[in-house]
Amino acid sequence: MSFTIKNCHTGQSFPSDGAASILDAALSAGRAFPYSCRGGSCGTCKAKLISGEITSGPFGETALSAAEKSAGYILLCQAKAQSDLEIDARELASGPPIPIRTLPCRVVQITHLSHDVIELSLKLPQNQSLEYLAGQYIDILLRDGRRRSFSIANPPDPEAGITLHIRRVPNGRFTGHVFDGLRERDLLRFQGPFGTFFLHDELDRPAVLMAGGTG
Ligand code: FES
Repeated sequence: MSFTIKNCHTGQSFPSDGAASILDAALSAGRAFPYSCRGGSCGTCKAKLISGEITSGPFGETALSAAEKSAGYILLCQAKAQSDLEIDARELASGPPIPIRTLPCRVVQITHLSHDVIELSLKLPQNQSLEYLAGQYIDILLRDGRRRSFSIANPPDPEAGITLHIRRVPNGRFTGHVFDGLRERDLLRFQGPFGTFFLHDELDRPAVLMAGGTG
């Protein structure tokens, strides 16, 4: 099944198979919608549904309130098209997003930064590099199909690999493995870069940047 999603904000359309979220369909088509968590918890991808049928998917009340839902707002990272749609969604002026890639990588260094934070240095295959912007993140792809998101902790440099800071989550399956089972030279797979929390060229006013947390 293929549907057409028209963004009335820009007048542009993109296809959806109805199985992927509207956000994933938009990213695959090179559209630059703002988003962050892709998990229904931050609200960055909020947009208005003008016409058509969707499934909403799970989301938190802090991301989309009952009043917003009643007013026709949806979360693009959770909603899936069930018919042709018209939506009203802001798009970023900074052009098409960097292509999202799925790549293998090798663990080259594991450094304990504190009792519950590890710095993981990952090397990409020869002749491969990952283009990304400071502020973006990658998903580590687990064997069971699940994924875990981590901010990239080193500045973009085609010659360098990827550095992640991983905090141990109590009973966390992947972070427990990082602390107790992962070894240097092990292989991982990841997908990315994701996220639109980066400095936007079109900003014409001072920006105050603050960061907190790990992982
Ligand atoms: S709710 Fe965070 S990107 Fe959709």
